Amino acid sequence: MQQVLNCIDAGTEYCPCFLAETGECLMCSQLQRKTFCDCRNWNGVCIYQEYISNRSQKKEHRKALPGRILKREVISDSVIILKIQVNKTLARELSQPGAYVFLKNIKDPNYFDAPMSIMSADEREASVDVAIQIKGVKTRALDEFNITEVSLRGPYWNGVLGLKYIKGVQEQKALLVTRGIGQAPAVPVAKKLILAGNSVEVILDQGRAGANFAEKYFRELGCEIKIKPVFDLKTLTLTDEIKEYIRQSVLENSIKLVYSSGSDKMHEGICRLLLSTAPDVFFACSNGASFCCGEGVCGSCHTRTTDGTRIKTCKTQLNPVEIFGGGR
Ligand SMILES: Cc1cc2nc3c(=O)[nH]c(=O)nc-3n(C[C@H](O)[C@H](O)[C@H](O)COP(=O)(O)OP(=O)(O)OC[C@H]3O[C@@H](n4cnc5c(N)ncnc54)[C@H](O)[C@@H]3O)c2cc1C
Ligand code: FES
Repeated sequence: MQQVLNCIDAGTEYCPCFLAETGECLMCSQLQRKTFCDCRNWNGVCIYQEYISNRSQKKEHRKALPGRILKREVISDSVIILKIQVNKTLARELSQPGAYVFLKNIKDPNYFDAPMSIMSADEREASVDVAIQIKGVKTRALDEFNITEVSLRGPYWNGVLGLKYIKGVQEQKALLVTRGIGQAPAVPVAKKLILAGNSVEVILDQGRAGANFAEKYFRELGCEIKIKPVFDLKTLTLTDEIKEYIRQSVLENSIKLVYSSGSDKMHEGICRLLLSTAPDVFFACSNGASFCCGEGVCGSCHTRTTDGTRIKTCKTQLNPVEIFGGGR
């Protein structure tokens, strides 16, 4: 069966993009230099027509903006939370699951910018909260004690795979399994699910972050919280306790959606467990590929689906089972 892939930017103000100009649009066959319209995934907008009516050019691309740091909170030896001033439009555009920006210290060159999930966006206050785990060159540059301003490039939205399931479930039960810095992108997921009348249970494992820093955000949203070890670093597999917990949740507790927020190994473990116990339960997860441009151009985020198709994970929305299911 033909896979249904979707471009996260299709139909937004950033579409058509650079890929339309180079004949590599992810969705439009005519903008892939084919002769016929072969539109399989209509998004409410004809990308070809948008391109032609824009004088056969891409739309304006995303710009980097300065953002003042309103608050810097040290959470653990390796994690800080920055509250950053942005404009109201950007705060609104970033207040959805999967939203992220490329962030760098304002004084550093462009190649320092690192993808960072928006943990919380406040449109009224025009600010965003970002949790940063300090790992290497780029994140260390954001951890300077006297940093007052950052540069944000965005908005980008493909930080979560399986968004249509998160946006589609209503008045059901959902389970969010989070570990380490993966807690950050799970907060807007929980918010979206709660707004749609779902009851949301969140499992927190502090992992290498050394703290359950998002706990207060989940509590404010009204999620039920459980603290459990999720991943065994020696065996690189899910712990037996969490496997049993997920199994029981989907079989006895009518959980409709499971969201995994952590490493690819964690996604793989949860995805395969669901396929073998309750294949009808929706699966979604954080997107942990290496992002550099975020625009489908540089190629750093390429991965393969289980049938071997190469995809650009910074742009492509798909059922994450196609990546983590290991073939059926
Ligand atoms: C969509 C998305 C959202 C993210 N959200 C957060 C977040 O909210 N908080 C957070 O702390 N981290 C987040 N990350 C990961 C963060 O971007 C990397 O940890 C950061 O780029 C590491 O850079 P470094 O120079 O400090 O470390 P390095 O020493 O360069 O790398 C350390 C680790 O980070 C990975 N990494 C390096 N560069 C990138 C990159 N450009 N994209 C993805 N991974 C990279 C490496 O594979 C390595 O495993 C996110 C990544 C993605 C793709
Ligand atoms: S991050 Fe550059 S192509 Fe995806």
